[in-house]
Amino acid sequence: MSVTINEAKTMLRKVPRVSLGFFPTPLCRLDSMSEELGVNLWIKRDDFTGSNLFGGNKTRKLEFLIGKAVSDGAECVFTYGATQSNHAMQTSWAAAKNGLKPILYLAAVVPPNPDDFKANLLLDGIYGAEIHIVDLEEGESFADAERRSFQMGKEHIARLAEQGIRSYDIPMGGANEYGTLGYVNAIVELAEQMEEAGLHFDHLYHSTGSGGTMAGIVAGRNLLGLDVQVHSVTAMEVDEKYAARAARNANGALDLIDAAVRVSEDDFIIDQNHYGPGYECPSEEATEAIQLLARKEGILVDPVYSGKAFAGLIADVRSGRIPAGSDVLFVHTGGSTVFFAEKEIIGSLV
Ligand SMILES: Cc1ncc(COP(=O)(O)O)c(C=O)c1O
Repeated sequence: MSVTINEAKTMLRKVPRVSLGFFPTPLCRLDSMSEELGVNLWIKRDDFTGSNLFGGNKTRKLEFLIGKAVSDGAECVFTYGATQSNHAMQTSWAAAKNGLKPILYLAAVVPPNPDDFKANLLLDGIYGAEIHIVDLEEGESFADAERRSFQMGKEHIARLAEQGIRSYDIPMGGANEYGTLGYVNAIVELAEQMEEAGLHFDHLYHSTGSGGTMAGIVAGRNLLGLDVQVHSVTAMEVDEKYAARAARNANGALDLIDAAVRVSEDDFIIDQNHYGPGYECPSEEATEAIQLLARKEGILVDPVYSGKAFAGLIADVRSGRIPAGSDVLFVHTGGSTVFFAEKEIIGSLV
């Protein structure tokens, strides 16, 4: 039971929200890349969302997450990720801009130099975030270090509560039902742009990490009844419960706006073939994808997220999985601050 664009907009207005970005983000055809790949390729520039220099997908989620924190009367906002987390950086500025204190627990997947914080970690500090670095223990995975970070955050929140200070706890990547609404809203925005320009897309590609963007895109697609296949290319290995968690977030977001439509696990197309050799580890095919898009179109995708997703799109077109002549949209989720991060993350781009 889908709804119209105008009905969806009215439904989204029910939920508390702050204004953080510049919307709508541009929707542009990539002429040179279309010719290179033999498909009709467009890009949605969500790397341009932010009101700070560095945009990205989290700005959309944070409009609803910070909206919720403010309406709950929180003074502090907690969140989690790796030390070069784009999400943690965007949470820092979004919280600071709204008078909330950002508190971060960040897992050192690539250990930062304490005397030379770079890229997102440097920006976290500039925005006044309280930064707790969680070093990985011998043999510990990123996922395990994350679990320890959440526990540390919970204990910290409890200590603040004893002093009467209220906090809002944002999960890694902002992947709860409020954050997910950011991408329901993005799809409503996209559908309006498509309608105005008379466009249709057969396939949509994007990078997925915590799964919140994926949940929101698919929820928005189902809400409006669009017939686009959504391909979610992972930036890391994900577990067998990944799709179930995303479906739960998607349905939670749809509940917040009283939508009747549902999302099931089977609605997700999750592509795990392009994150290798691992999270924050550069890959040859992402390096090639970054260089190709930069040299053909002047657009930068990053080595951790959007570059690996774009590599997935290229691989599917080249293998014929996406037939020649298809109408394909790449949602650019941002991440270019990482070009100024540690060499281990960036790899050999030049
Ligand atoms: C640049 C970029 N793209 C994509 C993603 C994945 O988004 P999500 O966590 O919503 O799956 C992230 C997450 O941090 C990101 O920073």
